[in-house]
Amino acid sequence: MDTYIRLAVVIDSAAGAEHLRRCAEQLGQRGYKVLEIESASRAVEIFRERDTGAMVLRAGATDAEGRPLVDLLRFEASALERPDAPLVLLADETDWTEALRLAQDGRFDAVCPLRGDPWTVVRAVDRAVELRGHCEERNHCLGVLEHARLEYDAELFASAQRLEAALDGIVSALCVLVSQRDPYTATHSSRVGRIARRLGAALGLGAPEQDALFQAGCLHDIGKITLPISVLNKPGPLNPAEFQLVLKHPQDSYAIVRHLPLPGSVGRAVWEHHERFDGTGYPHQKAGEDIHLHARILSLADVYEAMTSDRPYRRALSHAEAMHYVRAQSGRHFCPLCTDAFLRLEEGALGQPFATTHEVSFHA
Ligand SMILES: [Fe+2]
Repeated sequence: MDTYIRLAVVIDSAAGAEHLRRCAEQLGQRGYKVLEIESASRAVEIFRERDTGAMVLRAGATDAEGRPLVDLLRFEASALERPDAPLVLLADETDWTEALRLAQDGRFDAVCPLRGDPWTVVRAVDRAVELRGHCEERNHCLGVLEHARLEYDAELFASAQRLEAALDGIVSALCVLVSQRDPYTATHSSRVGRIARRLGAALGLGAPEQDALFQAGCLHDIGKITLPISVLNKPGPLNPAEFQLVLKHPQDSYAIVRHLPLPGSVGRAVWEHHERFDGTGYPHQKAGEDIHLHARILSLADVYEAMTSDRPYRRALSHAEAMHYVRAQSGRHFCPLCTDAFLRLEEGALGQPFATTHEVSFHA
């Protein structure tokens, strides 16, 4: 027995006092450092000192105002946010009703008769102290585990942020690569990404899906990097062979994007951004909802951006003219769900169009 464990035995009235003193004596012989306390208020003070291993008291013990001492001690335990010291109650026939109430609430650790062999109380205290020790050990282990979990979550969050930053860097590097070869496509793609994100928000999509739409917009034409410069910058109409090359760019874009750790919707949107709602698009003539929602959004953003940007062979359409086309193509080129949301957007929400005099001969 650890002799440093301090016990408080509350001898607050004549009732059972003799038995309680004999219990205190036996507990002392057992090795506990026993304090004999003569009032409920002093018992609460001792409890607040936090180094009491257990308290032995009558079930019916009250303070001067008649409040049950057990309730006061449990209240203190809650207020102090500490694992409370075990309470061992002693009850005789006058205390059974109170002991039963406390038992139903689970407010004590053991109950013994307020007469008879004091070693019954000693054994009850031993078990209560041991049990509470196990609880404290378990709580300590749980605390250690919780601390480790929080550290792991923080590290996981930091890793996710580093990965996200690295991915943004890769996407940006690809965009720079495109811009050095084809400034129009780079600027167009960036704005398509912003418009697609805005349209996604108007459709009620969450932030992760809006981010995916922006990434799809930035990357949707990256496959054009495989086109020969002679085709990319051709000032006149494309011949059939050249046009066939151009028609491949959605697959070529997908062939690049699929290697990036991006959401699956980005690849689908890139591959299907030239499909049309009525099934007359390319490369697979998909129709309606067989086309991924992100691709339907991207298609509209792509066409709107192209229409409202200056091209070498025509001036940009006005916002009103472009919106007229969008409205007319609802259910044909574009998904009606997307056009309805798009037509409600303010012009200012769609960003500045591409406006430059550099020679760009093609945008499919
Ligand atoms: Fe395209």
